[in-house]
Amino acid sequence: MAAPPTPPRAAPVGPTARDQTARDQTAGGGAEAAVLVRGLRKTFGGRTVLDGVDLAAPPGTVLALLGPNGAGKTTTVRIVSTLLRPDGGEVRVAGHDVVREPDAVRRRIGLVGQHAAVDEVLGARQNLVMFGRLHHLGKAEARRRADAMLERFGLTEAADRPVQTFSGGMRRRLDLAAGLLVSPDVLLLDEPTTGLDPQGRLDVWAAVRGLAGQGVTVVLTTQHLEEADRLADQVCVLDGGRVVASGTPDELKAAIGGDRIDVVVAEDRRGEAARVVAAATGTPVQQPEDRPGLVTAPVADRMAALTAVVRALDDAGLAVVDVGLRRPTLDEAYLRITGRPAEAAQQTEVAA
Ligand SMILES: Nc1ncnc2c1ncn2[C@@H]1O[C@H](COP(=O)(O)OP(=O)(O)OP(=O)(O)O)[C@@H](O)[C@H]1O
Ligand SMILES: [Mg+2]
Repeated sequence: MAAPPTPPRAAPVGPTARDQTARDQTAGGGAEAAVLVRGLRKTFGGRTVLDGVDLAAPPGTVLALLGPNGAGKTTTVRIVSTLLRPDGGEVRVAGHDVVREPDAVRRRIGLVGQHAAVDEVLGARQNLVMFGRLHHLGKAEARRRADAMLERFGLTEAADRPVQTFSGGMRRRLDLAAGLLVSPDVLLLDEPTTGLDPQGRLDVWAAVRGLAGQGVTVVLTTQHLEEADRLADQVCVLDGGRVVASGTPDELKAAIGGDRIDVVVAEDRRGEAARVVAAATGTPVQQPEDRPGLVTAPVADRMAALTAVVRALDDAGLAVVDVGLRRPTLDEAYLRITGRPAEAAQQTEVAA
């Protein structure tokens, strides 16, 4: 398979400033999906890593590919971005086939890889200008766009500091700026928030939602349910190279049981607490054998449930050691969706 000629981070020169008014396509409004994947298959050395994947992202929407390590997320992104050829199925980006019209696809995408590559010694502005030049922008145009992107991602003040002094969040914002420098229709983000602190993560989330609001179609991968929940219009859960669940975040959460409340009391009072929590939440509770004193229950309304449970326990004279709301863990999600735990997801708990 021939290596694609473009650098792995973004497409060559695209159109200039995005014209909002020219964008008449609304999400799902009958227009062809900006990213359309049908029956995608890929094998490496005889091992199947994508086994008939179907995805669709309408223009101006965010599609999250959620899945544990090795699920096939990066492989999918690499195929959609023409860096890798599929072995079977169909992939179309902005109406162009990735195998037959790779150049047209590259002109319409921006890609921010899982392991981003910026020059550490250069400043943010220099990196962006160099990146624009690599994509055949003229010097003045590359500078103009670099400055616009620095402004947009709040990096203007730090623009000339070496990137090696940047925080994780600043780096990721710089990655996003690079991915957007050439005004792509479709932006592909491979784990855009992995390794970021909470503030960095919030920054990236805000940036991604803003892009979708401006009509860019975003396909991102993540291992975090919460991220998919916050960002995505549609979520596809990949596991072992197959889509094991897909839908809106709400549909997915309904399928995996929504939020949970955990209450920890003294072990000898657990049975009593379980009855109180069940009555307060109106849902069946669990008392995991390997977690002494823990009572856990699904809840519909987080804050109402928290208040009701704490009050009821207090009224019953039960001392609470710990109480918390949380999202289902990825492991719980996979258990519900696939009927078996995902080995790689076991460590990945998404904080409430
Ligand atoms: N070039 C390659 N050669 C052989 N195997 C590969 C290659 N690229 C990926 N794989 C395998 O394909 C499977 C899917 O990998 P992929 O990188 O797509 O997973 P992922 O969902 O992105 O995982 P992670 O969350 O770890 O990034 C893995 O088992 C991986 O080892
Ligand atoms: Mg990956």
